[in-house]
Amino acid sequence: MRVFVTGATGFIGSAIVPELINAGHQVLGLTRSDAGAASLLAAGAGVHRGDLEDLESLRSGAAVSDAVIHTAFIHDFSKFAANCEIDRRAIEALGAGLSTPGVSGSQRTLIVTSGTGPGIPGRLRTEDDPPFPSSAGMPRVSEEAAASVESPLVRVSVVRLPQVHDRVKQGLITYLIDVARKTGVSAYIGDGLNRWAAGPVLDAAQLYRLALEKGSAGAHYHAVAEEGVPLREIAESIGRGLNVPVVSMSPEQAGEHFGWLAFFVGFDMSASGALTQQRLGWRPTGPGLISDLDQMRYFEA
Ligand SMILES: NC(=O)c1ccc[n+]([C@@H]2O[C@H](COP(=O)([O-])OP(=O)(O)OC[C@H]3O[C@@H](n4cnc5c(N)ncnc54)[C@H](OP(=O)(O)O)[C@@H]3O)[C@@H](O)[C@H]2O)c1
Repeated sequence: MRVFVTGATGFIGSAIVPELINAGHQVLGLTRSDAGAASLLAAGAGVHRGDLEDLESLRSGAAVSDAVIHTAFIHDFSKFAANCEIDRRAIEALGAGLSTPGVSGSQRTLIVTSGTGPGIPGRLRTEDDPPFPSSAGMPRVSEEAAASVESPLVRVSVVRLPQVHDRVKQGLITYLIDVARKTGVSAYIGDGLNRWAAGPVLDAAQLYRLALEKGSAGAHYHAVAEEGVPLREIAESIGRGLNVPVVSMSPEQAGEHFGWLAFFVGFDMSASGALTQQRLGWRPTGPGLISDLDQMRYFEA
């Protein structure tokens, strides 16, 4: 298939590109920069220059493709609500591009990225749970936007990501590390038993490919290899890596300590990936979150 990948130069997109190419697909990667274009060409992908706010560039990239995998997002959390709105419009433009009458006339595919989100009291969030409702703190509406472009011409599915990790980046944990570096303590809230689901980046890339090749219309897939790692264990690993003390904080202290991140740090974000494994035959094999964190090179630039 010819696949248009947005965010193709990012942490997750740059793992998806070789996963697709190695499986025989052709990739057209979106990027804004010369450096991004050079890295895409080196990976064997084609380059589509454009911006999430340039809807025509998104429409035209999608229109010449059999499928789109959308992973681009503007990660400036000081403008989170505005960036979620840009994401919504981008998904609608990608859907419109895929709805352009195609060369083959067959149904085309859109795979949208979302998060596994907050846990559900008393049980794990599953693939069959609806998206968590958007709110002032969680204004992301990628899944609602994806559902709105589903049509006989466009098959839509959603990959929900937990904290995706390797030895360099680990989702929101990368920001926790920055806070620990700046403040000289690695903190968690209360007993630190709230858990965050996690999955290795190479396994996540494989899941996008399986969703592309075998996914069902309207399905949600969870790139979850570990259902939940307690925040306290994450903070302890960061403490070991940075050689700083590990402390428990009250929710009141956490607001000042973590800034915008405080909203997430106290949350339980556990989730299951069992249905994804069952439905797509996905078998994550990568290292665990704590193993990757313990092998981070904290003091290298
Ligand atoms: N990493 C995680 O653990 C995690 C967890 C949950 C959800 N997610 C979601 O997964 C997706 C991928 O995350 P990531 O960690 O791979 O992100 P990332 O490393 O920050 O990469 C962001 C990508 O978005 C592109 N981008 C940024 N601003 C853009 C703009 N204005 N126009 C066009 N492209 C733009 C960048 O491309 P250029 O700079 O080349 O243009 C880059 O390829 C995002 O939706 C993210 O919110 C990630």
